[in-house]
Amino acid sequence: MVKTFISSPPWLLIVFLITCTLLMISFAESDPDHRKSYIVYMGDQPKGKVFSPSLHMNMVQKVIGSDTAQEHLLHSFKRSFNGFVVKLTQEEVHKMARMDGVVSVFPNEKKQLHTTRSWDFLGFPTQVKRSLTVESDTIIGVLDTGIWPESDSFNDTGFGPPPKKWKGTCDQANFTCNNKIIGAKYYRTSGLFLKNDIASARDSNGHGTHTASTAAGGLVGHVSLMGLGSGTARGGVPSARIAVYKICWIDGCDEADILAAFDDAIADGVDIISLSVGGSAARHYFNDSIAIGSFHAMRNGILTSASAGNDGPDPATVSNFSPWFISVAASTTDRMFLTNVKLGNNQIYEGISINTFDLKDEMFPIVYGGDAPNVTGGFNATQSRFCTGNSLDKNLVNGKIVLCDSFVSPRATAPLLPAGAEGVVMQDSGHNDVAYSYPLPASVLHVENGRNIHLYINSPSNNSATATIQKTHEANDTLAPYVASFSSRGPNPITLDILKPDVAAPGVDILAAWSPISSVSQAVGDTRSVNYNIISGTSMACPHVTAVSAYIKSFHPTWSPAAIKSALMTTATAMSALSNPDAEFAYGAGHIDPLKAVNPGLVYDADEVDYVKFLCGQGYDTRLLQMVTGDSSTCSNANYDTVWDLNYPSFALSTSPLTLFSRVFKRSVTNVGSPTSTYRVKVDVPSGLQIQVIPQVLSFTAVGQKLSYSVVVQGSINDSIVSASLAWDDGTFQVRSPIVVYVVL
Ligand SMILES: *[C@@H]1O[C@H](CO)[C@@H](O)[C@H](O)[C@H]1NC(C)=O
Ligand SMILES: *[C@@H]1O[C@H](CO)[C@@H](O)[C@H](O)[C@H]1NC(C)=O
Ligand SMILES: *[C@@H]1O[C@H](CO)[C@@H](O)[C@H](O)[C@H]1NC(C)=O
Ligand SMILES: *[C@@H]1O[C@H](CO)[C@@H](O)[C@H](O)[C@H]1NC(C)=O
Ligand SMILES: *[C@@H]1O[C@H](CO)[C@@H](O)[C@H](O)[C@H]1NC(C)=O
Ligand SMILES: *[C@@H]1O[C@H](CO)[C@@H](O)[C@H](O)[C@H]1NC(C)=O
Ligand SMILES: *[C@@H]1O[C@H](CO)[C@@H](O)[C@H](O)[C@H]1NC(C)=O
Ligand SMILES: *[C@@H]1O[C@H](CO)[C@@H](O)[C@H](O)[C@H]1NC(C)=O
Repeated sequence: MVKTFISSPPWLLIVFLITCTLLMISFAESDPDHRKSYIVYMGDQPKGKVFSPSLHMNMVQKVIGSDTAQEHLLHSFKRSFNGFVVKLTQEEVHKMARMDGVVSVFPNEKKQLHTTRSWDFLGFPTQVKRSLTVESDTIIGVLDTGIWPESDSFNDTGFGPPPKKWKGTCDQANFTCNNKIIGAKYYRTSGLFLKNDIASARDSNGHGTHTASTAAGGLVGHVSLMGLGSGTARGGVPSARIAVYKICWIDGCDEADILAAFDDAIADGVDIISLSVGGSAARHYFNDSIAIGSFHAMRNGILTSASAGNDGPDPATVSNFSPWFISVAASTTDRMFLTNVKLGNNQIYEGISINTFDLKDEMFPIVYGGDAPNVTGGFNATQSRFCTGNSLDKNLVNGKIVLCDSFVSPRATAPLLPAGAEGVVMQDSGHNDVAYSYPLPASVLHVENGRNIHLYINSPSNNSATATIQKTHEANDTLAPYVASFSSRGPNPITLDILKPDVAAPGVDILAAWSPISSVSQAVGDTRSVNYNIISGTSMACPHVTAVSAYIKSFHPTWSPAAIKSALMTTATAMSALSNPDAEFAYGAGHIDPLKAVNPGLVYDADEVDYVKFLCGQGYDTRLLQMVTGDSSTCSNANYDTVWDLNYPSFALSTSPLTLFSRVFKRSVTNVGSPTSTYRVKVDVPSGLQIQVIPQVLSFTAVGQKLSYSVVVQGSINDSIVSASLAWDDGTFQVRSPIVVYVVL
């Protein structure tokens, strides 16, 4: 399954909920004859031939017979690569996988959906220098839940007609494009629309509107979420155009729809693809819709920016990790949202949440969930102390504020509304870096403070404990930026020695446009309709990188996806392992710096040939690669790269505890700075490692010139992760790469 990585705090929760729903649904989708939906991936379009739709039908007929082929062939990819979606039995899957031209057959599962302040916090003010004409010809393809086209953020006043290169279309179903949103399509290969799904590119969720406006929304003054986060909302490239590809529905995002959208977006002529969606089970490159789609995008010069996932802080949870796209972790900004809980004894405890409800300091009785179990419903204190589901007795919580023993997701608090609760106070030690919105007054406290409230409720002198929850106020988080706990961590689960995520960008408490037919918390019973909402997730971090990629491209229209990605990585601000214990596995190369990224000095470039060599080194064979690339690439010795030689802007080495290692990495850098320049290397290395760079000086005499160097990393380590770095410095540009050595457990 694929999920959107709503960077908003609700998203983290939603992701879990959606995952469960999706699992059930994917089974429900199988036919009575045990057919399930599969993606048959066939690589590149046959070169020099016009695509014939009968090809796919013939293949399906051969495998399942001609009677039912028509109804089981669900979709053909035909514009940017070759393949189709078909319903097959397990047995037919094996037959299909053996047919000529088939690269892979994998189940069509679902993935899930993984302001204003953030751009200023990144040092990217409104008045930044822009290449306006080019920016206005830049098209950002957003694969998400659709968009709310009437949002002020997508007002097209001042925009000319779509750029000439645009070949896409606008699906008019309940939707009108303009000169800002120049294309809109929706994908539902399964044909199954659930209640509240709108068969239109229109966004009923809010996520897609939020990500699109963060990337390319125009400037809209005086916006806020009911007074919170007040300011000017804007995207990173306000002059760019948006092409909407709706792939996510109430039940998640089908891989078939993701691939169908890539097929179109590439052919339509988008410049950058933004994808805040992912799945949790790591799969090999040609068994994953996002890896495949973004590979073909890369071949066509299009960089895909993808969210890393919201499954942190556990290790190896990063879910989008192909080397040809950029994977984005979520960091905090200096704006945090705090919500006070005031007790009858005048004690005030500060929690974290987004509470727009105003209880006007009115005191309500406060009850501990563990003291209010719904006994007739079969619950006891073991459940009710966590306030889950129907575990609480309505009669005991009605008109009261409830204290719960854990963090509860916004959606899971929905039963408190019909139960008549006035508010909910939670306690947690894991979610205290993200402010979530709830359908009722709510605050999440640190466990110690929660314990004090519990003591107050239990104090023998007080049989009438009371409390109130105040409106949220903003504060300056001077420790920012650090990576959010929910942000998925490396190491890379498939290719151990490619560092992922690549960079960190703001993804916590981001204000951006929203769909008014959704609600603030998206929990059942929440009736607050807003045009701007504050949410968190790597989903919100991703469009920041999308926008900066478009910004870089507006100055360097010919740069490859790898060059743009390199610029983002080597100019990123190093983050501290002290405030981020997982170090590079949390933040990759560091926190993006949009202005520096436009002028990186040197880039680590890579093209399709480099990735093919890398795949050969990963054990993919010639037959497979020829199908994928549609040319005569072979995995001969000359065309084979170890993972350490892929021209990647970071270095990773996995090893065993206390084992001596010595590993050589080869790299080449392309001069994109001053024609004549001399770069010297600076290595930052902790004890226990030796790092040698050969040569130590690179002298360039022209722009575009490439020079190679090697890095030898030696030593033995016992720590889970040891961080080092190297930087090429010519006095003007510093081109920094992290070097990570880690113990595989
Ligand atoms: C790809 O998926 C298919 C079907 O689930 C499986 O048989 C195959 O082993 C997978 N390939 C890789 C490389 O994981
Ligand atoms: C777009 O913005 C312009 C200028 O601010 C305004 O006049 C116009 O009414 C807006 N259009 C829509 C559809 O809101
Ligand atoms: C069009 O979208 C609106 C939401 O704005 C929805 O209520 C309505 O049902 C949709 N109409 C159709 C025909 O789908
Ligand atoms: C009991 O509650 C009252 C009023 O709500 C408060 O003044 C008093 O301090 C409380 N006592 C304790 C022990 O918390
Ligand atoms: C509460 O219910 C659970 C499951 O229904 C049961 O395992 C547990 O023993 C019960 N606890 C008490 C204190 O009754
Ligand atoms: C107890 O839970 C059941 C569902 O499990 C619900 O129907 C009932 O209304 C609840 N009772 C109270 C008193 O909250
Ligand atoms: C937070 O404090 C820092 C340092 O004092 C300041 O630069 C920054 O502008 C403040 N942020 C906000 C949102 O006020
Ligand atoms: C290596 O790490 C393990 C696990 O943390 C520890 O038990 C062991 O003592 C360490 N060995 C050395 C030599 O530091």
